[in-house]
Amino acid sequence: MVTGGCGMVGAFVCRGLLSNGYEPVVVDTRTDRLLVTDIAQHCAFDAADVRDLPRLLEIAKAHKVDAIIHLAGLVGPDVERHPWSSIQINLLGTVTVLECARLAGIARVSFPSSKMVYVPVPERHRHPTYDPVPEDIALSPQKLYAKLKRTNEDLASHYASTYGLDVVALRFGSAFAPGKAGRFSITNPVMSMIEAAAAGTPYQVETGGDQCDDLCYSGESANGFLAVLGSAPRHGHFRVYNISHGELVSLRQMAETLQDMIPGWRVEIGPGLDYRNYGLGAYFRMSLKKASEEIGYRPKFDFRLAAADYIETQRRLNKSRSNR
Ligand SMILES: NC(=O)c1ccc[n+]([C@@H]2O[C@H](COP(=O)([O-])OP(=O)(O)OC[C@H]3O[C@@H](n4cnc5c(N)ncnc54)[C@H](O)[C@@H]3O)[C@@H](O)[C@H]2O)c1
Repeated sequence: MVTGGCGMVGAFVCRGLLSNGYEPVVVDTRTDRLLVTDIAQHCAFDAADVRDLPRLLEIAKAHKVDAIIHLAGLVGPDVERHPWSSIQINLLGTVTVLECARLAGIARVSFPSSKMVYVPVPERHRHPTYDPVPEDIALSPQKLYAKLKRTNEDLASHYASTYGLDVVALRFGSAFAPGKAGRFSITNPVMSMIEAAAAGTPYQVETGGDQCDDLCYSGESANGFLAVLGSAPRHGHFRVYNISHGELVSLRQMAETLQDMIPGWRVEIGPGLDYRNYGLGAYFRMSLKKASEEIGYRPKFDFRLAAADYIETQRRLNKSRSNR
């Protein structure tokens, strides 16, 4: 069962599941198939709210679900704008999924956490040293989104140890993927720059070119979930892993890579740090040691590969939109 499977990360996860022989059952309130047109005929879809426990149990039984990837939730600026709804969906939704797993005897549950639980990271992890951040540093999340992710981790840990579930949370690096622009591009030069490059539109950012970050394309997020599913379960345990490209790349280097991919494209990137205006404690490199050792995770994307896939996927999405 993939909750939120019609969303941006969900589309990549379902694609990855299908190409590895799994049969995704998508549970989502979203009824359009815009992000999953290419695979829609191979997935089962149930339009259900993730907070509807009886419905989740019905779906789990009907499809003989044996693992859940829980992606349904609110993301982006909407979370702080609508705190009550976010708490309802992002927190209660996760508890409902865990409860469904407990009642239906589905041992394996995984869900995305976020790099935001680390923010702000201590000085030594920031520019210019960027010491990789391991999973076990002290956390003091500031944003509501991050607080809810952290609380979900706590509740998941309780469900795992008390009810014998195998629950894994993946803390993704700075996410980017097609399908989000328009919602987030204003505050995310990584996505707006890739889209400008693809369209051949000149692009300019006044500051932030020296800021490095560790990115996580949604295809990489899907790889993380596949690594979890492909590894041995640990019933009664909650585990958390960092997932990202593991590549430290500056905004200027991203621009240079895109220029190299799209000859003739004009871009100007000013110097400085903090291109997302999140504060310096929001840019860091993630340690992938634990994920590599325990679940055999190896990143598949770097910025160049991710940008190429982004552009190709975005073109396919635009074509589907114009055909509607
Ligand atoms: N992409 C990122 O920036 C990023 C980074 C780290 C973690 N994540 C996490 O990945 C997950 C998916 O994010 P995304 O970027 O794909 O977002 P998205 O908005 O594209 O997808 C979320 C999906 O959940 C569905 N949904 C929302 N409320 C629901 C409900 N009550 N019941 C059933 N379905 C519901 C939406 O219809 C949508 O299809 C979220 O948990 C998010 O926090 C995303």
